[in-house]
Amino acid sequence: MNSDQDDPSKRRPGKIGPIEIRATRPSDAEAIAAIANLPGFRAGTLRLPFQSLEETRGWLEKPAPDSTRLVAEVNGQVVGNAGLNRLAGRRIHTGNIGMGVHDDFTGCGIGSALLGALVDTADNWLAIKRLELSVYVDNAPAIRLYEKFGFETEGRLRAFAFRNSEYVDAFTMARLKF
Ligand SMILES: CC(C)(COP(=O)(O)OP(=O)(O)OC[C@H]1O[C@@H](n2cnc3c(N)ncnc32)[C@H](O)[C@@H]1OP(=O)(O)O)[C@@H](O)C(=O)NCCC(=O)NCCS
Repeated sequence: MNSDQDDPSKRRPGKIGPIEIRATRPSDAEAIAAIANLPGFRAGTLRLPFQSLEETRGWLEKPAPDSTRLVAEVNGQVVGNAGLNRLAGRRIHTGNIGMGVHDDFTGCGIGSALLGALVDTADNWLAIKRLELSVYVDNAPAIRLYEKFGFETEGRLRAFAFRNSEYVDAFTMARLKF
């Protein structure tokens, strides 16, 4: 992960304009595809290289039922996105989360704003009791962000994904709110 970002003194919370959190729109496809193709975003997620605009449009136009999809906007620019998918049947009390911020805008409070909005929706509007996610074991910013919102590590998934010619482990984390 990026050395500057690891130095809290180099992070720039508040140095950007106000952060607006809103629901995704089909017109966000280009911005979301561009963010998904950034190296830092790809390294922290399961995105493949060369994510196409069509693929992103298709994903945006067919939201999963019971899913919450958000983008963060700063000065009219989409700088991050996040999603909450509610599971079904006997796991209807559970939702899984995915998120990411534009490489040039990390460390500015955008991840916190997006995750805060998803957690509020889960707790106060969807009565979701368990939020779960997986995160690479070396993704310190993400792990700290999730811990800040009460997520706890429940296990380690070995060789969870292939990243840049290596297999990497991931933690499975969850937050319970009964
Ligand atoms: C992980 C990620 C979403 C964090 O979002 P962000 O906007 O940078 O996070 P914030 O600025 O809101 O910081 C939130 C917390 O994360 C932690 N954090 C953020 N950047 C950090 C860094 N470089 N080093 C250590 N901790 C960091 C801090 O604890 C911070 O808490 P604080 O408010 O007490 O300072 C963002 O870095 C990202 O999108 N990375 C690439 C894609 C990715 O990894 N997605 C997550 C997949 S599981």
